[in-house]
Amino acid sequence: MTASVGTAASPVKSVAEFAAAPAEYQEAVRKIVRSHSVNELYGAQVFDEAAIALAPTPHAKWLTCRIAMEEYGHHVRFRALGEEIGIPAAQLVPGEKRPLSIFAFPLKSWEQFCVIKLLADLAEILQVEDLLECSFHPLRNLARMTMPEERFHAQFGRDFCTEICATPEGRAAVQDAIFRYFPLLPSFFGASHSKNNATFRRLGIKQRSNEAMRADYLARARALVEGELELRLPEVGEAV
Ligand SMILES: [Fe+2]
Ligand SMILES: [Fe+2]
Repeated sequence: MTASVGTAASPVKSVAEFAAAPAEYQEAVRKIVRSHSVNELYGAQVFDEAAIALAPTPHAKWLTCRIAMEEYGHHVRFRALGEEIGIPAAQLVPGEKRPLSIFAFPLKSWEQFCVIKLLADLAEILQVEDLLECSFHPLRNLARMTMPEERFHAQFGRDFCTEICATPEGRAAVQDAIFRYFPLLPSFFGASHSKNNATFRRLGIKQRSNEAMRADYLARARALVEGELELRLPEVGEAV
């Protein structure tokens, strides 16, 4: 009986087991791996690689190079898994689908990049966290490998934003970037009451609803921006 395959109680431990899992399970896992593969590459291209030229010092450039390398590395990992589980190569790179609105932001300054790492990589941490107990073990293992690097990216954003905020001009630039960029983030968690998300949870692939993750994200972003940096976070209505 394969009905229980892919639940938290009955994990799919390998790509070989995946090939024997029900079609619904396979399709659900492919959707998630595909979106990570596309988004990691998109972000690396439009933000991380572009930010190397914006970094103001050799030390900042070196750290930004490391981040760009790691973000490209995340794409490479998700893409390799995607190929193993039968996703066509063209679907694993940006192109066919319209990019998420968070990637449409026109990056212009070093301060904006630091805010993107502070806030967008925090959002990415929540997404990766949700896969740490995924019922598809190759994806769970990939999330566990990726997590320390996403934490480093968010910490980089936090450290540089704190440093930049030491001067009034820097503080104004960080605040301006937060006002421009933050409103794009809540929709990153997907629609509330999403049918796809309900399927992911029923199959043990994901753990939390989009709305629960969004609420958690908003609380964590508020604690960082208002609690630590003592700046303002714009009010964002319950989008989507
Ligand atoms: Fe990443
Ligand atoms: Fe990252």
